[in-house]
Amino acid sequence: MNLYERYVLPRLIDLAMRTKATQAERARAIPLAAGTVLEVGIGSGLNLPFYGSAVERHYGVDPRRELWTLARKRIERAPCPVEFIQASAERIPMGDGSIDTVVMTWTLCSIPDVGRALLEMKRVLKPGGQLIVIEHGLAPDPRIVTWQERLNPA
Ligand SMILES: C[S@@+](CC[C@H](N)C(=O)[O-])C[C@H]1O[C@@H](n2cnc3c(N)ncnc32)[C@H](O)[C@@H]1O
Repeated sequence: MNLYERYVLPRLIDLAMRTKATQAERARAIPLAAGTVLEVGIGSGLNLPFYGSAVERHYGVDPRRELWTLARKRIERAPCPVEFIQASAERIPMGDGSIDTVVMTWTLCSIPDVGRALLEMKRVLKPGGQLIVIEHGLAPDPRIVTWQERLNPA
């Protein structure tokens, strides 16, 4: 990894993901999270200030530890214990049915094997668990999509 990737890029991503518009979408979606939360592609932890007291435990998965190092202050102020796991969404090192809420914000477009990553999220979610996604792309509601129905069809 070169100096740009290690020191410059993480700060640029942190800055780019901290706009008024992204913060407004976070404020709308993230308070819906509850129980044991897995955040896929946690980046610099910009969602952490938006979690409420319904969250008991939070795990953040991301292959890039450099981004995570920018999250220190947000972790200190989080309403629950927060743990970083360096891993890729296509192989989540967590047990089957161990998660109440999966959160993924502006991450799907960065994951090489989207299908495999979604299957992993389904695997770790408890039956009836929720998936909160914010993504830029076509969807019935392009701001918040909960894929509980798609992942757990009746
Ligand atoms: C545009 S940033 C969004 C960060 C954060 N979710 C947010 O809302 O600010 C995309 C994130 O996806 C992460 N990412 C890239 N490839 C990934 C993968 N295979 N599995 C999980 N996360 C990945 C990046 O490291 C980065 O943190």
